[in-house]
Amino acid sequence: MIRIDKRRARRNFEQAAERYDSVAILQREIADRLIERLDYVRIQPRLVLDLGAGTGYGIDLLRRRYRRARVIALDFAHPMLLRARRRGGWLARPLCVCADAESLPLADGSIDLIVSNATLQWCNDLDRTFAECLRVLRPGGLLLFNTFGPDTLKELRSAWSQVDAASHVSPFIDMHDIGDALVRARFADPVMDAEQMILTYSEVGALMADLKILGASNATAERSRGLTGRARLAALSEAYECHRRDGRLPATYEVVYGLAWVPEQKPISDGVAVPISAIQRRAGSSERA
Ligand SMILES: C[S@@+](CC[C@H](N)C(=O)[O-])C[C@H]1O[C@@H](n2cnc3c(N)ncnc32)[C@H](O)[C@@H]1O
Repeated sequence: MIRIDKRRARRNFEQAAERYDSVAILQREIADRLIERLDYVRIQPRLVLDLGAGTGYGIDLLRRRYRRARVIALDFAHPMLLRARRRGGWLARPLCVCADAESLPLADGSIDLIVSNATLQWCNDLDRTFAECLRVLRPGGLLLFNTFGPDTLKELRSAWSQVDAASHVSPFIDMHDIGDALVRARFADPVMDAEQMILTYSEVGALMADLKILGASNATAERSRGLTGRARLAALSEAYECHRRDGRLPATYEVVYGLAWVPEQKPISDGVAVPISAIQRRAGSSERA
């Protein structure tokens, strides 16, 4: 199984913070689409967590929607948080937490709503990440996210496979497996759906440059550590050409959306939660005063 080298991914995002907004067009579009889903949900959250907040685009959207809510921006790349912190002026600054989404330094049951845009694909253990989300959400709380499915960057993956056998593109998890992970974590009523979005480029170098500026260049643990030489880039460019349509090279993104609730009776780790009122005394048991 291909894994993300977290240290490398974090460093890529740290270096990307300054220019991220200049290329994050798809990320902003899918953030808008994600947040619109809250139109159909009746909640009035007081504390909202933006998981993988980046430069804080989602924070503005959440603030506009829930004016009374406090927003926590969580990200493992500190320079991203420095930018997120500038949103909303000093009166309405988000609380910023620099941490890994797979291990949240937040209290049990403290959050009403978690929103996560274009981040979960950087987590190695989705079960653990969802378990953490369930833990910090209050009973009746909501998790709303999007991430990328296996068709994402399929043209780039296929072109690289004609050049060498190394790992060049991140692994992406199938929508059904993400839904199964939500159920395993004991979320209730999960709803999943997916859509394809295609960006187009004049040449493959422009796609690679965008990925780099976004901080999304290859951070797989199995990547080859040397520099990509000119000859291999030329071979990649040639292999990508078979995808050209109407003079442009497509880069497909499969965007997977998920929404799931925390049950009112929150499950206790591996056990089953039983309300005290439902526990009956056995006939004949002695009663204490
Ligand atoms: C593609 S950006 C999306 C940022 C923001 N949500 C947006 O819509 O613009 C992914 C963000 O997730 C952060 N990230 C990736 N993996 C993470 C992890 N395991 N824990 C915390 N943050 C993570 C990155 O630092 C980056 O800021």
